[in-house]
Amino acid sequence: MVFSRPVVICFLGLIAATMFAMPNLGLAVLGLVLLLVVLAFAAGMLSKSMGKGSHTWHDKIESRPLAFSMLTLIAVVIGGLFELLPGLITEKKVPMAASGEMAVMPYTALELAGRDIYVREGCYVCHSQMIRPFRSEQLRYGAPSRIEESMWDHPFQWGSKRTGPDLARVGLKHAEAWHWDHMWDPRYGQDFSLDSELSIMPAYKWLYFDKVEIGVVADKMSVLRRLGTPYTDDQVASAEKDYRVQAQATVAKLAKDGKTHVIVTGGGEGGADLRVDADPESEIVALIAYLVRLGRNDVPVGFEAAPIQGGK
Ligand code: HEC
Repeated sequence: MVFSRPVVICFLGLIAATMFAMPNLGLAVLGLVLLLVVLAFAAGMLSKSMGKGSHTWHDKIESRPLAFSMLTLIAVVIGGLFELLPGLITEKKVPMAASGEMAVMPYTALELAGRDIYVREGCYVCHSQMIRPFRSEQLRYGAPSRIEESMWDHPFQWGSKRTGPDLARVGLKHAEAWHWDHMWDPRYGQDFSLDSELSIMPAYKWLYFDKVEIGVVADKMSVLRRLGTPYTDDQVASAEKDYRVQAQATVAKLAKDGKTHVIVTGGGEGGADLRVDADPESEIVALIAYLVRLGRNDVPVGFEAAPIQGGK
């Protein structure tokens, strides 16, 4: 049964489709040709067998529920193994860049707060953070995601659905000011492309008003340290101070691009316009700091000798 024609055709089809998706253009063209040949062959085979009603190969599995369930289970387990194995066998050491720094730096206090807002608001419901090694993805989103790029993410934000674009490297695409406008109103922002005007992404206006509880960020860093993120004692101790410094710098960058406030039309007393200034303590500043950092990692050239403490 394993070598029956439908199984062989599916196998060849999968190989052809994978080749078609590869970044190498020659391989992709070859994959396309192979895919068309396989499809034509399958179509021919189907039209022949449909006439005769000869469906013996799948009758064999479908009439044996237990065997069918077992085969399904085996298929699922194989898929699961392919997902699990890389995490289990890869070196649990800290990947280092040529500069001598960690290739993927743990989030700063401000970015960490921003990440938690990202998780709280469910951005992952519409956005993935994993660029697959396919041509179409690389053209749109940039270099494929590497395994160590999400090693400090607990939990990781790979996501499983893309209603909006992948955000794994969005930090290389937009500056702070762009996010300031986009998060306020992704749908009707005047300065955006036609794409944004048609966006189904909701606005996140409350982030401009609500404040981050900065006092707990150090605790979050301690918890992450237990999970294996290499924060130093100094980083945990100065979390609040570092938070405020980076938040001020982010607000200064926004101001440089003319983003000092937002206006809520008719939101003030007596129907007057309400002006909300960019506040370093606001949630939007933390979220923006997180977004502009996404994908800004170095390529590892080696590993730190010390293995990661704790964690997975
Ligand atoms: C209902 C689905 C949905 C949700 C929820 C959502 N987005 Fe989006 N997002 C989109 C769509 C669709 C686009 C593409 C159109 C646009 O730019 O608005 C987009 C675009 C973006 C972009 C621009 C990406 C690029 O490549 O230019 C960013 C950044 C972004 N979203 C961030 C967020 C953040 C942060 C959250 C959570 C606070 C969020 N989104 C929640 C659907 C969503």
